[in-house]
This record gives sequence, structure tokens and C-alpha cells, in this order.
Amino acid sequence: MGAPGALRLPGKVAVVTGAASGLGLASAVRFGSEGAAVACVDLSADGVAAAAEAVVAAGGRAIGVAADVTDEAALTAMVAEVTSELGAPDVLYANAGTARGEGAAHELPKHDWDFGVALNLTGVFLSAKAVLPGMLARRSGVLLLQGSIGGLAGLPNMAMYAATKGAVVALARQMAIEYAGDGIRVNAICPGTIETPLVREAYARRARLGVDTHTSIEARKDTIPLGRLGDPEDVANLALFLASDEAGWITGAVYTVDGGESAALIPRHIAARPAPTHA
Ligand SMILES: NC(=O)c1ccc[n+]([C@@H]2O[C@H](COP(=O)([O-])OP(=O)(O)OC[C@H]3O[C@@H](n4cnc5c(N)ncnc54)[C@H](O)[C@@H]3O)[C@@H](O)[C@H]2O)c1
Repeated sequence: MGAPGALRLPGKVAVVTGAASGLGLASAVRFGSEGAAVACVDLSADGVAAAAEAVVAAGGRAIGVAADVTDEAALTAMVAEVTSELGAPDVLYANAGTARGEGAAHELPKHDWDFGVALNLTGVFLSAKAVLPGMLARRSGVLLLQGSIGGLAGLPNMAMYAATKGAVVALARQMAIEYAGDGIRVNAICPGTIETPLVREAYARRARLGVDTHTSIEARKDTIPLGRLGDPEDVANLALFLASDEAGWITGAVYTVDGGESAALIPRHIAARPAPTHA
């Protein structure tokens, strides 16, 4: 732990993909407020400009770079731009992803499967691939790969999501071993249910499908041991720790940040202890 009040990412250059919304935006702002120069990467120029402004408003330094993480050439160009504007990336948070493509596996259109695999898995791989040469040259770096608790256990009607997020966890472990000797740490972050546009849209789609699950986000918190949905900041705090030197001996780890959801065999509202009786 640094000195009280010390910045936790001083002088670091961090790339956050999917930075225009949700967990990516919160993490970009958190990284920036802790001393990192942040490259906010997302699909639209307006989105990345707004994200960079949010980082600056929080006291950080930032640029926005519009790039599609499924496009290898765009990622190579992104890293070149970041390196010339901010310096070589020290940290990558490969966060961009989608939950689109729900439904029973036997009915899932192949194009939905392909879209999800390209974004959630190949996009993470390509983002890491783009920053790794610079990290290898400097024998230092941190990769944070965005998984999900949906990649650790089965989720009905989420075949693409479960498969891609599980693969990201495997990729994080594999890359951790491959690059540990090069001073590069790789960890997987597995959030539970965090109220972001991704989750709101996923619940709306499930309701339209008539899927018999927790269609109400409000009802969802009853299933979470800590009794609430996550905030994007809950995930940003974990990402900050793993990105910082405080996590210098942590690699190949898979971190859940889910209010205890993945630890519970039976949801909270079913397993709850009876209320204590006070005479
Ligand atoms: N919200 C949750 O509850 C939750 C839980 C577990 C895991 N996750 C994961 O966290 C990540 C972020 O989720 P979120 O809830 O913040 O979602 P979000 O929809 O709020 O944000 C995702 C961002 O990714 C961007 N993006 C999409 N495709 C892209 C592409 N091809 N290239 C670059 N950027 C692209 C979007 O424009 C958007 O800004 C995803 O990988 C998601 O699977 C989210």
C-alpha cells in the first residue's frame, strides 16, 4: 500500500476498451483520478470524446480513440496513437463486450453466436495482442480481461455469453503463465449483475422473449447475498487494485465482484435465515 493520499496509478498509461459506457467508463474515470493517463476506446468518436471529458472532469488526463475491438488493424493504429499521445500502454482493461444473443442454445442464430464470439472473446484477444509487443519490449504491463460470473457457472439462455466469458477466464490464466517471466500480469475480472445499459437491455430482451427468469432488475437484488446490484464503481475499484502495483504478486487470478452471488448455491431470498426474534 502506498503512502496515505498517494495516487495509485502515478505516471501509468491505461487503455480501457468499451470506455464510453458502464463499467468501462467508471474504470476509465477511476484510473484517471488515480494518476493514470487514460485512452478511452470505444466505437464512436462522440462516445470516446465524452468519456475522455469525464476523465478530465475527475482530474485525470485522457484521450478518446474510436476503434472497433474486433478490427485488428484499428487496434494496431489505436496503440500507435496512444503511444504517441500519452506514452506506451502500461495497463489494458479489455472490457468491451455484449450480452446480445439470448435464447435457448438450439435456437440461437449462428450470426448472434459469431457476433458475440468476435466481440467478447476475439476482441479481448486482439486488444491484448495489440498492447503486448510494447509491454514485452519494456518487460512490464498489466492486462485485465473482462469475464463474468456467467463464465464461471451455467446461465440459462446465455450460451454465447457463458462460452465466451468462460473462454476469457481461460485466456487470462493462459496468458498469465505465458508472460509471467516477462513482467506482465494478467487477471480476469468477473462481475455479477451491475446495472448498466448492457444489463438493462438484456433484461428487456429477456422479457420480450418471455423467458421465465428474473425479468425485473429490481427483483434481482433479492438473489444477491449482499442485497443489492453492483455499481460500476464496485468493478472499477477492483480493476484499479489489479492495475496498481499493490497487486504486484497477483497474476492468473480470477476475481469475482458480485455481492456474493456466485458463492451462493441457493439464492438469498430462498435461503434467508428467519428474522431474529427479540423479546
Ligand atoms: N453489467 C454487468 O452486469 C456485467 C456483468 C458481467 C460482465 N460484464 C461485462 O462487462 C463489460 C462491460 O459491460 P457494461 O455493462 O459496462 O456494458 P455497456 O453496454 O454499458 O458498455 C459496453 C461498451 O462497449 C462498447 N463496445 C461494444 N462493441 C464494441 C466494439 N466492437 N469495439 C469497441 N467498443 C465496443 C459499447 O459501445 C459500450 O460503450 C462487458 O464485457 C460485459 O460482458 C458486465
